[in-house]
Amino acid sequence: MALSEVLVDELRDMYSAENQLVKALPKLAEGANSEELKSLFTLHLDETKGQVERLKQVFEILGEKPTGEHCNGMEGVIEEGADALEKDEEGASFDAGLLGAALRTEHYEIAGYTASIAMAKVLGLSDVAELLTENLNEEVTAAKKILEAAHSILKESASEPEGEKKPKSGKEKYSAKKSKEDEKKAASDVKRRAS
Ligand SMILES: [Fe+2]
Repeated sequence: MALSEVLVDELRDMYSAENQLVKALPKLAEGANSEELKSLFTLHLDETKGQVERLKQVFEILGEKPTGEHCNGMEGVIEEGADALEKDEEGASFDAGLLGAALRTEHYEIAGYTASIAMAKVLGLSDVAELLTENLNEEVTAAKKILEAAHSILKESASEPEGEKKPKSGKEKYSAKKSKEDEKKAASDVKRRAS
């Protein structure tokens, strides 16, 4: 497989990721309690639609079609966000839970664009690299703004009282069981390092 084909695969993945975010960001905006966070998610939704358009331009330059890959990684990251939206927390603590989910989506995209820009540059595709860099810069700025907004949210959350312990849902029980399995599978490898 030539590097140009690896790049097209990577970009199709990003195209799917951005389209998934177009559907997920309104839910984060709707769920957030903080007005600042709401408006940041809404602003980034608008940017994300522009990023989809830029990716279409990239595919036009490459003479390839944008569809063909579903991004499983972004699906998983968005699923984590959906879990955060289902939490029973209130106020700033609820928003604090959204923070990790929102930052994960941005950093996932930052990784994808960073890799594809490096590939485009090696292939001498400077017009492609330029368009992708515009998307990358928007992701970096979005992550920075979300983190800045989070400072006051986290402070507020820290002063909120602890919630009552509620019985775990089926999904939470399944997740807890899987986490124990993760630990068990890795245990001998981790132990080997320590000894
Ligand atoms: Fe994006």
